[in-house]
Amino acid sequence: MGTRFFRSPVLLGSLWLLVFASLGGAMLSVSWKPPTPWSSLPPVIGVIDPNTPPETVFRSLCANCHGTKGEGNPAFKAPSIAGLPDWFILLQIGKFRSGWRGVAGDDAPGAQMRAIALALPDAVIPGVAGLVQALEPVPTVNTLGGDPELGKERFSEQCAACHRYNAHGEKFFQSAPLSSLPDWYLAEQLQKFRSGSRGYHGGDVEGNKMRTVMEGVDPKEIEGLVAFIAELSRTYPPAAARWRTGQ
Ligand code: HEC
Ligand code: HEC
Repeated sequence: MGTRFFRSPVLLGSLWLLVFASLGGAMLSVSWKPPTPWSSLPPVIGVIDPNTPPETVFRSLCANCHGTKGEGNPAFKAPSIAGLPDWFILLQIGKFRSGWRGVAGDDAPGAQMRAIALALPDAVIPGVAGLVQALEPVPTVNTLGGDPELGKERFSEQCAACHRYNAHGEKFFQSAPLSSLPDWYLAEQLQKFRSGSRGYHGGDVEGNKMRTVMEGVDPKEIEGLVAFIAELSRTYPPAAARWRTGQ
C-alpha cells in the first residue's frame, strides 16, 4: 500500500480513530508511563502525505479532538484552538515535538498532543496553523465557578505585564492569548506550570518564565485567576484582539 492509500480522508479518519482509541486507553490506564518513543508507535501515524491540504489535515485529524470549528472538547482535554495566532501554534507544536511539552509522566493530554505533533510532516504545519488562526475564537467562559474578584489583583499586577491588560497575549513576549481558551484548560496549564509538568526543560525560556511565576501563586488562587480571564474575555472579546485585526 502506497501513500495514496492514506490520502483518503475517510480512511485517515478511521485510522485515526484506532490510534485515538489506543491513546485514549493509555490515558485512562492507572499505570500511565511517559509516551512511547515515536518509532514504536503504530507506523500508520508516520504516513501523512506532506502534500495533504491543510483543510484535510484539520478535518481528518485536528477536528477529532479539537472539534470541527476548533472549539475544543473537554472530554479529550483538548482546548479550543480557534483563533490562536499562527506564531503561537508553531511555537507550541515545536515544543511538543522537542519534548519540551508533553513528556512529564503525569501529563497524558500533553502526551497525546505530542504524538500528533510528531506525526505531522513539516510541510503541512504552517498551512494548518494559518487555517486555525483564521477560525472564530471562542471566548473564555467561567464554568469552574471561581470568583473573578479573587483573581483581579494578581492578574493586573503580574500577569498583565506579559499577557497584556486584556489577556490577548503579546507576540513580543511570545505570551499566549488567554481569553479564547477554556477555563478548565487554563486552570490545568497553571497547575502544570506549578508542578513542573510544563516549563521543565532548560531550553524552554517561555515555559521557564511561567514556571517561575506559578511558584509564587497559591493553587487556591487559580480558579479566581481564570474566572477573571473569563471576565476580561467579555470586556475585550478575543475576536477584536490585536493579532487578528493587525493593529
Ligand atoms: C488525539 C487528540 C488530539 C488531536 C488529534 C490534536 N490535538 Fe491538539 N491538543 C490535544 C490535547 C489533549 C491538547 C492539550 C495538551 C495539554 O494539556 O498540554 C492539545 C493542545 C494543542 C495545542 C496547544 C494549545 C495551547 O494553547 O497551548 C495546539 C496549538 C494544538 N493542540 C493544535 C493541534 C493541531 C493543529 C492539530 C491537528 C494537526 C491537533 N492539535 C490535533 C489533543 C489533540
Ligand atoms: C514574564 C512574562 C509572563 C508573566 C508575568 C506571566 N506569563 Fe503566562 N505565559 C508567558 C509566556 C511566554 C507563555 C507561553 C509559554 C510557553 O510557550 O509554553 C505563557 C503561557 C501561559 C499560559 C498557557 C497558555 C496556553 O495556551 O497553553 C497560561 C494559562 C498563562 N500563561 C497564564 C498566566 C497567568 C494567570 C499569569 C499571572 C499569574 C501569567 N501567565 C504571568 C509569559 C508570562
